[in-house]
Amino acid sequence: MMHETLERWGSQRAFILAVTGAAVGLGNIWRFPYITGENGGAAFLLLYVAFVALLGLPVMMAEIMIGRAGRRSPMQSLLQLANQAGATPHWRWLGWFGGVTVFLILSFYSVVSGWSIEYLVESVNGDFVGSTPAEIGAGFDAFLADPLRMTFNHTLFLLLTMSVVAAGVANGLEKLNNLMMPLLYLLLLVLVGYAATTDGFGTALAWLFRPDLSAVTPLVVMHAMGHAFFTLAVGACALMAYGAYMPDHQSLPRAAVAVAALDVTVALLAGIAIFSVVFSQGIDPGEGPGLMFVTLPIAFAELPWGQLWLGLFFLLLLMATWTSSINLAEPMVAGLQGVGLKRGQAAALVGVAVWLVGLLSVFSFSSLAEVHWIAGMNFFELVTTVPTELFLPVGGLLIAIFAAWVMPRDIALRALDAGPTGYRVWRTVVRYVSIPLTLVVLFSTLI
Ligand code: PFF
Ligand code: NA
Repeated sequence: MMHETLERWGSQRAFILAVTGAAVGLGNIWRFPYITGENGGAAFLLLYVAFVALLGLPVMMAEIMIGRAGRRSPMQSLLQLANQAGATPHWRWLGWFGGVTVFLILSFYSVVSGWSIEYLVESVNGDFVGSTPAEIGAGFDAFLADPLRMTFNHTLFLLLTMSVVAAGVANGLEKLNNLMMPLLYLLLLVLVGYAATTDGFGTALAWLFRPDLSAVTPLVVMHAMGHAFFTLAVGACALMAYGAYMPDHQSLPRAAVAVAALDVTVALLAGIAIFSVVFSQGIDPGEGPGLMFVTLPIAFAELPWGQLWLGLFFLLLLMATWTSSINLAEPMVAGLQGVGLKRGQAAALVGVAVWLVGLLSVFSFSSLAEVHWIAGMNFFELVTTVPTELFLPVGGLLIAIFAAWVMPRDIALRALDAGPTGYRVWRTVVRYVSIPLTLVVLFSTLI
């Protein structure tokens, strides 16, 4: 396994591509706009960017460092480094905790990616041609109410994901992604250009960038923190799994900053485009998970060749989510491989289990809609909230503690690869900013 995968990451570029593939996905284009909409706009955005800088980035480095220093699955890397540091072997459970977190995330990620498959097919069919905004909204509701169609797409997406994971050919997909993603960014820019011509544009900009700090509650802060981890793919040992294959002699901070900057930029472009439509059409910003699926067909319908662009957009979005979901599957698959399963077996087992749990999300829009698990949340609401906003920060906190307090200094220094000063700066930030900040936010919302 080591051999095959070490080869996979032979070049510096391949590593960056893989981490970018993991980071850019539904989090930027689907989750960021709707969660910003639900949390009132600019103040949330400001918090989210601050958390990316103060938590997401340093912890991303911590996570990749552990994988890079251990060069094994997250569980094995943590165990080995804990042994070297004379710390408790229980640290390896952090790898399994991450595995459970990404497992739950993947279960809804696959369902929502399935929505993109549906919309890709519908736009190619020309189903949106001549539709009014109201019809587009009603069409989305009708789709959600149809568990069979949703299950079909969820199944298809998971098959796509797990077959790449089983075959270990993610490298090819990431290279393809590298060619296609600039097109996605370009399309977002075109959308922003279109948005600038709508009468919702000014309102959207003010709403996104003029913060009203009185709107900030502990819960808003918690949502922003969770989203910072989610969008960067940090806190679940998924990047740790990739870090195992990062080549020597590559500066980790530089790679991490590049990925985070791109990730935030993509989210901002999507946000500007989507909220311009929201405000020019009088849609509720807090519309929820359907926001992107209602606004984008409306926006593209206004452009020449709109159906074509819309189809292309969903194709590219699908490619972006594909590389993210491959990353989501990795910790569990690597962990099961570590306990003796073959890669194909591990991928099949994880795939079937994720598929089953995903069905609970599928039916959350029809027969299970009113089945509340905790705090009045149905399964979809639960699984899109708790793993992201609680498990990722807790996982990130433990990862940060391990990298900055437990890991032997010389090993950590080498894994960061930013020189002694770079290391000292990183460690100071993690010890005295990232860790306390996460603790404060977690406690202030949970108590
Ligand atoms: N970063 C991905 C996105 O923004 O869509 C989602 C994600 C991937 C979250 C991997 C967590 C993870 F471990
Ligand atoms: Na992201």
